[in-house]
Amino acid sequence: MARTPDYFEGKTIAITGAGSGIGRSAAVIFAREGARVICADINEDGGRKTVEMVKEAGGDAFFVGTDVTEREAVRAMVRKGIERFGRIDFLLNSAGSALKRCGFLEIDDALWDLTYDLNVKGTFYGMQEILPHMLENDGGVIVNIASMSHKRGGPGTSVHYASAKGSVLTMTLGVAREFADRGIRCLSISPASVNTAFQEASGTSSEMAARLVERIPMKRNAEPDEIAELALFMCSDACQFMTADTVYVSGGGGFR
Ligand SMILES: NC(=O)c1ccc[n+]([C@@H]2O[C@H](COP(=O)([O-])OP(=O)(O)OC[C@H]3O[C@@H](n4cnc5c(N)ncnc54)[C@H](O)[C@@H]3O)[C@@H](O)[C@H]2O)c1
Repeated sequence: MARTPDYFEGKTIAITGAGSGIGRSAAVIFAREGARVICADINEDGGRKTVEMVKEAGGDAFFVGTDVTEREAVRAMVRKGIERFGRIDFLLNSAGSALKRCGFLEIDDALWDLTYDLNVKGTFYGMQEILPHMLENDGGVIVNIASMSHKRGGPGTSVHYASAKGSVLTMTLGVAREFADRGIRCLSISPASVNTAFQEASGTSSEMAARLVERIPMKRNAEPDEIAELALFMCSDACQFMTADTVYVSGGGGFR
């Protein structure tokens, strides 16, 4: 794989949800470019495995057990990252899940709250805990993983999740615009289906998975590397005029 110029040498990224899927791909890809990686995840085995993969490839990373729904845990993750690497230049908020598929009338309070705690509060805490440090450093880039589902609203399967990801987009826009003249960029990525543990963890049936692929003109899901490479570009100095927006990675549509 070709390398980009040295945008990432000596820089540090904190990644939530680094123990699997897009977060893990991003850990390996940022390390390939010379960045040091803080691997945050609630799943210790997954997070430690990612650290191993980074180290095997010659990179530097460490694991911090982090439940992103807990502010104190996110605060501690940022503190430990700064203690270990001196500074944090980038944050990728990848921890997230639809948790369960069901019709709108079946969404109970517990599912609603958990979905918002994980996808919305988790992203909110990450940004709020890291921004003071980035502002002190006169710069930083935050990339939030949203979802293409916010375009459709998740009818029949995931209004709770689609609306939470809509909130991720809106928070990204607000943070980007509030801090745009202080060296901070903030972007989101809205993928269609990606081949990760996400679908199984969210209870996606094989019929629904087939239906999702059928709607995509390229007739396949994304691979996690295809999302992580975009996060890399977004964080690079090649992308300095881009902030606030979401970028769809969709194989040509499906939800539009
Ligand atoms: N896979 C898809 O089809 C798809 C599509 C669109 C958007 N997304 C979004 O992409 C992001 C990454 O998902 P993925 O596909 O890599 O899924 P994944 O299940 O492979 O990875 C998610 C990671 O988040 C971690 N996590 C879950 N709850 C956590 C918590 N409370 N605190 C910290 N970590 C926690 C999990 O342990 C896991 O390692 C999510 O925000 C997801 O909503 C995924």
